[in-house]
Amino acid sequence: MNAALLARLQTDLDVRRTTSGLRHDLVASGIQGSVLRVDGEMLVNFAANDYLGLAGDPEVLESAQRALRDLGLGVSAGRVLCGTRDIHGQLEAAIADLVGAEDAVLYGSCFDANLGTFDALLGRSDAVFSDALNHASLIDGIRLSSARRQVFGHADLADLERRLAAGADARHRLIVTDGVFSMDGDIAALPQLVGLARQYDAALMVDDSHATGVLGATGAGTAEYYGLDGGIDVLTGTLGKALGGGAGGFVAGSHAVVETLRQSSRPYIFTNAMAPALAAAAITAIRIARRSPNLRERLAANTAWLRKALSDLGYDVLPGDHPIIPVMLRGGSLARDVAAALRRDGVLAFALSHPVVPAGEERIRVQVSAAHTTAQLELAAAAFARASTVMAVA
Ligand SMILES: Cc1ncc(COP(=O)(O)O)c(C=O)c1O
Repeated sequence: MNAALLARLQTDLDVRRTTSGLRHDLVASGIQGSVLRVDGEMLVNFAANDYLGLAGDPEVLESAQRALRDLGLGVSAGRVLCGTRDIHGQLEAAIADLVGAEDAVLYGSCFDANLGTFDALLGRSDAVFSDALNHASLIDGIRLSSARRQVFGHADLADLERRLAAGADARHRLIVTDGVFSMDGDIAALPQLVGLARQYDAALMVDDSHATGVLGATGAGTAEYYGLDGGIDVLTGTLGKALGGGAGGFVAGSHAVVETLRQSSRPYIFTNAMAPALAAAAITAIRIARRSPNLRERLAANTAWLRKALSDLGYDVLPGDHPIIPVMLRGGSLARDVAAALRRDGVLAFALSHPVVPAGEERIRVQVSAAHTTAQLELAAAAFARASTVMAVA
């Protein structure tokens, strides 16, 4: 290896090790579920995005196995060559139907979907208005396009409106927001964003990765949560969270949006097609999600119970009703120390620190699932209670 590059990388890693510390991926074994085996220890899992508990669902796994047997592992070709199978179209139709869009197009991940959308839809005479806490993939996707970028304060509608008014010279103005913000668990003010979009003749794009399958009576996402009928021009989401947790992302919208992406979105064109088994699993997960309001009811009840229990213990829990529960433990290594204490008590939840959240906004992100039992929720509350007395954090 090139000596100069090697030396520089070593130095940078050493600096990182002594400042923020190096991240080491936790290696778990077995199927993702409300209990996870880590280093031979069984931990109750509050760290996954498996909101409906479908990652280990026997029906989902069975459909993937059937597709694996009938259609093989993968297609060794892009969608635009000979990689497209019926099952890709079936999944795209199921997604469009779930979210109430005319059409949908699949990507390898939602990260790819977000990377590939802006450049395909917008040009240099356009402007994007992006919430300051939008997901990294939206930020990177905007950077890859030639559109002008305006970042408005998180959920700051007045700031957004000022910027929209000042950006009247743009050919198109596109407002972009997460539907649910992954670090804070708050839900975007979609009715107001739709109103501003209409007022300023702007388009609206929503990344509903933490809402698809989770929010709304049928799991259609943030718009359904608010009872909105329309108003979102471009919707992106993932198959890697509530909808089975396999992998894959999508963009849903009008035929014109979706067809434009099929024609010119680089992460759609220049990559291998989704493995058929993943598509089959996602179709089954969507079917289960739609027919099972009881899973969302259970998820909501679990979330409300744990949010209240942690608040009653004195923890600073960011308000909301999404199953992402941010428990604020600001400053130094407090969040990490509490996460370690929880782990000793058999509970897995991650501490988040800079650069994932701003310095001084450290927290533990607790993620609830419909699969959690009452006993598992009580165990988590008891572990937080012990941590609060040992560390005087609450
Ligand atoms: C809001 C948001 N968008 C996009 C992504 C990326 O999704 P995927 O895992 O499908 O790439 C994530 C996942 O972390 C997310 O939280």
